[in-house]
Amino acid sequence: MTAKIYTLLTPQTIRFGAGCIETLGDELRKLGAKRVLVVTDAGVYSTGLVDPVLEQLAKIGTVPELFAEAEPEPTYPKLNAVAADLGKNSFDLIVAVGGGSSLDTAKGLSILLAHGGKGQDYIGPDKVPGPCLNTIMIPTTAGTGSEVTNIAIFGDPDKELKLGIVSPHILARVALVDPVFTYSCPPKLTAAAGIDALVHAIESYTSPKAGAYTDALALEAMRLIAGSLKTAVHDGSNKEARNKLSEGALLAGISFGNAGVAAVHALAYPLGARFHVPHGLANGVLLPYVMESNLSAALDKYALIAQVMTEKACALPRQEAAEQGLKAIQTLCAEIGIPHHLRELGVPEEALEGMAVATMEITRLLVNNPKNLTLDDVRAIWRSAW
Ligand SMILES: [Fe+2]
Repeated sequence: MTAKIYTLLTPQTIRFGAGCIETLGDELRKLGAKRVLVVTDAGVYSTGLVDPVLEQLAKIGTVPELFAEAEPEPTYPKLNAVAADLGKNSFDLIVAVGGGSSLDTAKGLSILLAHGGKGQDYIGPDKVPGPCLNTIMIPTTAGTGSEVTNIAIFGDPDKELKLGIVSPHILARVALVDPVFTYSCPPKLTAAAGIDALVHAIESYTSPKAGAYTDALALEAMRLIAGSLKTAVHDGSNKEARNKLSEGALLAGISFGNAGVAAVHALAYPLGARFHVPHGLANGVLLPYVMESNLSAALDKYALIAQVMTEKACALPRQEAAEQGLKAIQTLCAEIGIPHHLRELGVPEEALEGMAVATMEITRLLVNNPKNLTLDDVRAIWRSAW
């Protein structure tokens, strides 16, 4: 038997905990930041969440340039336009504050402001030629894990696809995960981001690229998310639930940043690109149907997932345990308001065939699926989910 080879890619520094924003000034000082760009979106900016970041910057005597127009579900054309505008300045560090869209926008800018060109030049694995601008990532949702991954996703409106840039050079220098930033996240966004994090943990755990590090991170992520998501959605003032959910999303992010995500994400991308269904929501609707299709191909791991999701599964044989796990996930999705079917999101039946074909093109993610999915398998998943 040959030894399994795996690596663990993470930001150089990961800080987690309520109040850890207070360490931002130290991190900026260590990195010698002088000309700082702060990237966020209008919604996050209007809630005042950027204020503590600006206070930390003021402490080290830095007045940053502020870009508060990161778009939800960002696209390559917009990224290119923003980079062309901001490129007149010479920044040495980007602080990103927001959900996955703002963090991915910051990653894209860190490439273009260092190397020029267009975002599309860097699509795919390892196309970024060298180090980019340093970034510090501060998530305001518990979900995407973008603060710890080497992936940035942008839409290509012409191709109606979402395409990723994958490079170790876009890993944040510092991920600063302060759950206080998620305390005001509204219920619907908490649900969508939280279920996205659960999908990251499940898909990376069942990926053929999983290893001992990622298994440990994914299982702990599932335990934390399963124990907190419902409460965080229905009682956002519960700090313990918010803290656990943030930590779970962080660990799930490190896990999927190394072991990858799979078919749920591959199906979610055309849904997002064509019908603008937010990423987390798309994943939440699709998760039970993809799990059902995969179940027999990864029974051992699905049985272990089930034991984390529900005590009922602990004493059962593998098949029944895995089925109980699937039921527990369906119940959780219903309890946090994730729709059962795609038609509830306004997706027409005649769109299913095109989305099945588009899914098959996302081989980068399908190779991580525990079951080798054929076009007919994918068609069947879309049909059941509809
Ligand atoms: Fe995701």
